[in-house]
Amino acid sequence: MSHKHTLTKGRAVFLEYYSKLLPQFSVPELTAHLNTRNTPILLISKVFEAKLMKLWQENSLTWAPLRWFPFALQWPPEIPVGETLPGFTEGWIYPMNKSSLLPVLLVNPRIGENILDAAAAPGGKTLAIANQIDLNKTLLIANDSSFPRFKRLRTALKFFGYPDIPTWRFPAQTIVRNSEYTFDKILLDAPCSSEKHVFNSKKHLKIWSPNRIKKLSELQLSLIESLLPLLRSGGTLIYSTCALTPEENEGIVAKVLEKHPLEIALKNPPDGLPVSGSGLSGFGLTDSQSGQVLRINNNDFGFDPMFVAGLRKV
Ligand SMILES: C[S@@+](CC[C@H](N)C(=O)[O-])C[C@H]1O[C@@H](n2cnc3c(N)ncnc32)[C@H](O)[C@@H]1O
Repeated sequence: MSHKHTLTKGRAVFLEYYSKLLPQFSVPELTAHLNTRNTPILLISKVFEAKLMKLWQENSLTWAPLRWFPFALQWPPEIPVGETLPGFTEGWIYPMNKSSLLPVLLVNPRIGENILDAAAAPGGKTLAIANQIDLNKTLLIANDSSFPRFKRLRTALKFFGYPDIPTWRFPAQTIVRNSEYTFDKILLDAPCSSEKHVFNSKKHLKIWSPNRIKKLSELQLSLIESLLPLLRSGGTLIYSTCALTPEENEGIVAKVLEKHPLEIALKNPPDGLPVSGSGLSGFGLTDSQSGQVLRINNNDFGFDPMFVAGLRKV
């Protein structure tokens, strides 16, 4: 047996694993995709929009809103990507990849709803939701179990103009015991393999092994199962990951549907999304179900990997 086949960890195993998983990409293509740094879009605070616009006008910066998402701008061409933008230090701007907005499009927050962001830190999706609702008439709660990340979440909320959004620091598995509320929408942007991050981190790539996928998928399923009792009838749990593996995406959704055949159904993504992509077949979802989830594998249009599914309580 060659040395290559005895490896269980590291870059070579990673690339072999993912090129089998996504045969449409050669190893060099996959490597290039994972290495590409997409230009972030800029989520801006609704609260400070007018002040930011004035500041950008004074600095002669192009104000180019995204057509498909409110309070989001394209990076201004006058400033090199990665440099500090006017308004960033104040906390009025939150740079993120476009893909992070896709789960929020499925959340589709509505005034008057109860909304839980169950794994919210460092907070980009919570901010995007908050911009779209009236916080006096809508309950939005942001939860994250990690203390350092929770602190970043609180800071982001405060400087973006939403210091009063309630925040919890529960393991999501225990919210059901601690919450007096039920919810119309629950976003679970789950801890996941995050291959793009791993691939660009020498430290993480060196210790990567397929076993990590198994552990994460067990955690993801337990998180969903413990959140479902908090969902109101007719409500939707939006499950998202930035993982490429079907075990963490289609496989999880299939297990939930199998476990709750009468209670949970897939909800179609909304029309008019800026990007399309359907689930991988052969991982538990039927062909028609695969068409009801959103999977982005590559970044041809500046989108990082993302998987999103809406699980509706019928
Ligand atoms: C993909 S990140 C969330 C990113 C976030 N939604 C955003 O848009 O900024 C996953 C988060 O899950 C949190 N997490 C991990 N295990 C958790 C658990 N058992 N309960 C709640 N949060 C958890 C991590 O601390 C991490 O912040």
